[in-house]
Amino acid sequence: MTSSNSHSGPTPRPHRFMPSGSLTGRVRVPGDKSISHRSIMLGALAIGKTKVTGLLEGEDVLATATAMRTMGARADRIGDGAWSINGVGVGGLLQPGTALDMGNSGTSTRLLMGLIASHGITGTFTGDASLSQRPMGRVIEPLSRMGAQFHGSPDGTLPLVVEGMCPAVPIEYRLPVASAQVKSAVLLAGLNTPGITTVIEPVATRDHSERMLRGFGAELNVEELSGERIITVQGGAELHPQTIEVPGDPSSAAFFVVAGLLVEGSDLVVENVGLNPTRAGLFNVLREMGGHIEELNRRDVGGEPVADLRVKYSALTGVDIDPALAPSMIDEFPVLFVAASMASGTTTTSGLDELRVKESDRLSVMAAALSGAGAHVTEHEDGLVIEGTGGIPLRGFANSRTKTHLDHRIAMSMAVAGLASKDGVEVDDTRPIATSFPNFMTLLDRAAD
Ligand code: S3P
Repeated sequence: MTSSNSHSGPTPRPHRFMPSGSLTGRVRVPGDKSISHRSIMLGALAIGKTKVTGLLEGEDVLATATAMRTMGARADRIGDGAWSINGVGVGGLLQPGTALDMGNSGTSTRLLMGLIASHGITGTFTGDASLSQRPMGRVIEPLSRMGAQFHGSPDGTLPLVVEGMCPAVPIEYRLPVASAQVKSAVLLAGLNTPGITTVIEPVATRDHSERMLRGFGAELNVEELSGERIITVQGGAELHPQTIEVPGDPSSAAFFVVAGLLVEGSDLVVENVGLNPTRAGLFNVLREMGGHIEELNRRDVGGEPVADLRVKYSALTGVDIDPALAPSMIDEFPVLFVAASMASGTTTTSGLDELRVKESDRLSVMAAALSGAGAHVTEHEDGLVIEGTGGIPLRGFANSRTKTHLDHRIAMSMAVAGLASKDGVEVDDTRPIATSFPNFMTLLDRAAD
């Protein structure tokens, strides 16, 4: 039951990323993936028309849109990144008539499992080879406590059938892993659960669900107590349609920011970058390494802080990265490892066990990819230690290809390594890039002109 229709076609698309001249001019990265998913889901639960602009039209978000349509909502594309969503109301999701094909998207899968868990419907979730290996036990556990039942896989991986419970039982849940997906799954289930559902976060993760739920009119409270975040949501919520402008994705901006720092002579502006503090860890770490990253025109877009980032070629120095920063840059470690491999001195990372269960095992895949390109990398159980070249370009690949394991962020990170290398880097498959950044190659060509 592994889905076959993701990543635009059945044949891998290799590409050689050659050393580049300086990156200059302005690039505007597409909309934030996390916020795009949530705009569609909450729009689909509000009664009336939600208008979204700047939506990321990547495969992951399109999988969410298709799933919400299958459960009764309307989701219409009315222009470039402009969508109109007509919701069914909290409690109004319909029984899907077909399996929900989640492609490569962990966020769609885990958040939609939360939504189905408290509706009286049953959903069958399938995904591609990467998603089918990722752990779902982390959402199965709390959602089962709320009354949902899960069938189909003894080891908690897709394909899985989720049978919702209505009415569900409100729970108080302390997150055992720092995961915004698990937090969001429980909060979304709580929307249609009588009483108050509580999530306790010992370590703060991205807070887009909380911001947006409040914006749609849910009764949601956040309290800080002894360093923990206690989030409550009142069930039986009535959500009101919104007009949402999605800011640019800092996780996509990261590739251009690191490329600008590494490629000699670069002076580049990356426009409209979301700088929510729960997402902006990479930019702070790169500054600490000596990177020139200036914030221009700081403003508010859709309730999120945003700025244009001016990035200049910089000499970087290795750092020890505090594991407490990990949630605020969790998707940016692959490209941070690329920056570290060309810094002076040693960069040490730890506490990154979560990277082993992303779209690929990002510690071992990046260790292999960067070592293959001539970097000095030691892999540990929970992080990488990287001895930088001191600004000298990586050798790149003589004859081998980077194995990306269906992971978009590995492909884009190694593309950046290729730009800053001597011989270029060949990536075995660029199709997965379309999950989060469909126009990556076009923007890269334009900036590197
Ligand atoms: C996401 C949360 C993060 C992140 C993922 C998107 C979200 O995952 O890695 O790309 O939108 O909630 P975890 O919450 O599992 O760390």
